Amino acid sequence: MKQKVLVAGGAGYIGSHMVKDLLANGYEVLVLDNLSKGHRDAVPHERLVLGNIGDRDLVETLFDQHAIAAVMHFAAFIEVGESVREPEKYYRNNFAETLVLLDAMRRHGIARFIFSSTAAVYGTPKQTPITEDHPLHPINPYGASKAMVEQVLKDFDSAYGLKSIVLRYFNAAGADPDGELGERHDPETHLIPLVLDAAAGARDAIAIFGQDYDTPDGTCIRDYIHVADLCQAHRLALDALLQGGEFNIYNLGNGRGFSVREVIDAAAAVTESQIPCRAAPRRPGDPPRLIADSTKAKRELGWTPEYTDLATIIRHAWQFRQRCMAAESTVSRTTDSPTPLST
Ligand code: UFG
Repeated sequence: MKQKVLVAGGAGYIGSHMVKDLLANGYEVLVLDNLSKGHRDAVPHERLVLGNIGDRDLVETLFDQHAIAAVMHFAAFIEVGESVREPEKYYRNNFAETLVLLDAMRRHGIARFIFSSTAAVYGTPKQTPITEDHPLHPINPYGASKAMVEQVLKDFDSAYGLKSIVLRYFNAAGADPDGELGERHDPETHLIPLVLDAAAGARDAIAIFGQDYDTPDGTCIRDYIHVADLCQAHRLALDALLQGGEFNIYNLGNGRGFSVREVIDAAAAVTESQIPCRAAPRRPGDPPRLIADSTKAKRELGWTPEYTDLATIIRHAWQFRQRCMAAESTVSRTTDSPTPLST
């Protein structure tokens, strides 16, 4: 019989790619999403349950009604800058509501959990590339909220036998190579989609947040990882847990950093467009350089990322963006056409 996975936040950017990946690989999937950030059309409608992970009654009802083998949790707020301005939102949603979900799992004997964590738990790293044993010193509430859940997961494993795998993503980017799914945040704050907006002429200029960092060109360096490769790692982690695997933590990145300027240049080449930029102050909560050492995920999970090249990551994101633009123009052409007056 197919194993059923509950994907919390499955209508969002990474979650929706995960749902597609799981279905293509023989899993049954149920999605729990409140659509505060996700998109109804990003998941098959018959799989979507509308609601919050922090709604204890709803989550317990789902666990009563479905034989859930494992839970994957993507239902988090993810904006570093916003978390600095509105920490309560991050501690409530990312930490307190996750605790409700985990407690419901414990009560129902659902003992396998894959957690979307982040490189932001490391804060400003002492050295790069970063290995999993690097100390955790988050410098923004987003990273802190994820580090707190990691601690809960260690303790729930020891006390209740709830087995988790924690995946610390570096900068998730790109889109479904088939072009069906992609990144649609509102408001968008992430570098690559913003740069593609500018390339498409839908945005005036890219604000480069800080040009005086201790990096070769003065702009922040990040390790961009293709969303399809993230999904592959989740599936391998799920298989490991379903086969009796123990609590573990893995970094997911490509081990190569690109500065903000390098990303803009790469996007200009892929899109064959000019990308206007302007200097802006540093964004609070941004570490200068984040680069993953993902040797452990490759060695222990057998993870083999396929789309490691930055140009490919950007090309897939661009392909999705162009598809959305084409769909929007069809809708606006239809809306603009004269509506017959009713008689
Ligand atoms: N940046 C700009 N201008 C913009 C947007 C971003 O200069 O308009 C810069 C940022 O300052 C940063 C880099 O581009 O230096 C990447 O920024 P993103 O907002 O795309 O991504 P972050 O690095 O802030 O955060 C992302 C995820 C987090 C995750 C983190 C881990 O949103 O969930 O990667 O590296 F924790």
